Amino acid sequence: MLRKPIIGGNWKMNRGTPEKCKEMLESLIPLVEGINDVDLIIAPPFTVLIYAYKILKGTNIMLGAQNMYFEEKGAYTGEISPIFLKGIGVEYVILGHSERRDIFKETDALINKKLKTALNINLKPIVCIGEHLEERELGKTKDIIEFQINETFKDLTKEDILKTVIAYEPIWAIGTGKTATPEQAEEIHIFIRELLTEKFDKGTADSIRIQYGGSIKPNNAEDLFNKENIDGGLVGGASLQVDSLVQIITAADNSVK
Ligand code: PGA
Repeated sequence: MLRKPIIGGNWKMNRGTPEKCKEMLESLIPLVEGINDVDLIIAPPFTVLIYAYKILKGTNIMLGAQNMYFEEKGAYTGEISPIFLKGIGVEYVILGHSERRDIFKETDALINKKLKTALNINLKPIVCIGEHLEERELGKTKDIIEFQINETFKDLTKEDILKTVIAYEPIWAIGTGKTATPEQAEEIHIFIRELLTEKFDKGTADSIRIQYGGSIKPNNAEDLFNKENIDGGLVGGASLQVDSLVQIITAADNSVK
């Protein structure tokens, strides 16, 4: 099954001024312009999305947002409508990142609403799932993943799920420098495909891209991406340095050669 790997650079709450954004993107663009076998996404803060769009237009890098609200308009002070995101050229949106879940108390039910809205207006969702360290240590990883898949993807059709990217991000590996071993990550990616096979069918499960996320660095990217069921990654810290991001992108590109 040939799935195109996807690398997302999640800048989180960094590089949110025009100067920083421009500096990063203008050095990144020429270094990855020959990459056609990997989908490339940069998700900068909201403040520079439109600015980033103007810089990225016509390149092979797509624009992502880090969050959105599930309503399209109205009295929701401080929230961002997915329609606005679409309107300024955003193609992907990260939903249910563990920082949204843990710090901002987003529930699976809320993420499910956001996911349905995103799909409705053709924003491509990247949905994050993953377990906490205590859950892993108690042997509950698969239960957590199954619960998150059931709740977050509730009522989705096969067509919907085929437009969705899943990011398996063990929370204990995010920003900690601790990476899941390629074997640990692959085990859960296979498990996710089994769950999707039960919910939909094998062909559908085999078509869905599942990224890994959590302390991906140039020195571990190749081993992770060479696993059959790992289709690229969602990169936080290492996406803030052009050279490390390019090395990670190159590792994903090599994994399909
Ligand atoms: P990290 O973040 O690469 O800094 O661990 C990954 C993520 O939060 O998606």
